[in-house]
Amino acid sequence: MSILIKDIKQLVTCKNKNGLPKCGKSQSDIGLIENGNVFIEKNKIAFVGSNKDFRKFEKINNIKNYKVINGREKVVTPGFIDSHTHFVFAGSRENEYEMRLAGSTYQEIAKAGGGIASTVNSVRKMSKNKLKDISADRLKKFVSYGTTTLEGKSGYGLDLKNEIKILEILNELNKENKYGLDIIPTFLGAHSIPKDKSKKDYISEICFEMLPYIAKNKLAKFADIFIEEGYFDKADADKIFSLAVKYGLIPKLHTDQFKSIGGIDIAIKYGAISVDHLEVLKEKDILKLSKYNSDKKNRCITATLLPGVSYFLNINYQPARALIKNNIPVALATDFNPGSCMTENLQIIMSLASLKLKMSSEEILNAVTINAAFALNMEDKTGSIETGKQADILIFDIPSYKYLVYNFGVNNLQTVIKKGSIILNS
Ligand code: NIG
Ligand code: FE
Repeated sequence: MSILIKDIKQLVTCKNKNGLPKCGKSQSDIGLIENGNVFIEKNKIAFVGSNKDFRKFEKINNIKNYKVINGREKVVTPGFIDSHTHFVFAGSRENEYEMRLAGSTYQEIAKAGGGIASTVNSVRKMSKNKLKDISADRLKKFVSYGTTTLEGKSGYGLDLKNEIKILEILNELNKENKYGLDIIPTFLGAHSIPKDKSKKDYISEICFEMLPYIAKNKLAKFADIFIEEGYFDKADADKIFSLAVKYGLIPKLHTDQFKSIGGIDIAIKYGAISVDHLEVLKEKDILKLSKYNSDKKNRCITATLLPGVSYFLNINYQPARALIKNNIPVALATDFNPGSCMTENLQIIMSLASLKLKMSSEEILNAVTINAAFALNMEDKTGSIETGKQADILIFDIPSYKYLVYNFGVNNLQTVIKKGSIILNS
């Protein structure tokens, strides 16, 4: 049935104006409409505007029989987009969390056989069906905090069989999940070097076995690499991305998390869609990104910041203010994974972005909607409340959109609409 959300106290549209992610001053432009209305027909947004204009629209289109949701005391936003997660994993690593509290670093734990390697062991041991079931269960938590579009990465298989297992799960969940969430698969074979292989052999496996299979079976939209000391460097990334782009995968990067070793140069060389993490990003690299983005011939590189990682690992926060000042679009994501950020809650990330990255409520709202849509190449479908787009919409029981980060740690989400269906109502 069609739905009218009427008399919305604050309708945050995050409307996109120029076909580019929002950067600089426009990162603050949330396209706010007071006392607005949204009409949803089938799975799409059919009308956005004032009461008076809705009455005209209703008459002209002879609209009858629709469900009405009263938005009088409510705030309505686009469905949130979590553009960086590793939600398909087995096991958990609370023991490592305790080790870190006792003074070990993330890198020390990884060297001692924990970290990514420990999750790889758990994933390899678990059947595909079981891994799919536990991953499907996690979607409920994402939805409960407002996520309606979700990226998910492989990277805990680290061999052909298990990387494919994860990517197949992501593709199957995209088709079958009970909420109708959009789930976007990313190939992150280059997440770590498996214990049983040399780096050279593993990169050959990525290039000559995994990439051809993934491309042939259309299992991933993006190719990601963890550029970091002890993981993959610029030369490795060159080998992998030069093939990945030939196979039609769009590059993304985990870079500048602990050490800055040239990830930004690689992102620019291959026209990555996003650079993610950036805890130790250098001023000179901010300027390079800014220059690259200002050349309109290029697709913009969005900076995807993951302040939940800084919080969870007790490391640097990302330089959001310098990025925004230099006209680099900023997106925010959870990075949900068992080692460096164990939360599905994007609202907590928004709160951290406010307090620790010094981003305004407006900048944050664009960062989890339209800019995150750009970081997933999904901006034509979702990320804003505009006619013709998918009806991915959240209704919050709060007095103003600024209340979202102010009432931290509390979930005031009342209704989640995905592709025109109410998937959560509390
Ligand atoms: O994005 N940095 C590398 N990869 C993940 C962490 C993976 C893990 O610890 O299991 C991240 O932080
Ligand atoms: Fe990550």
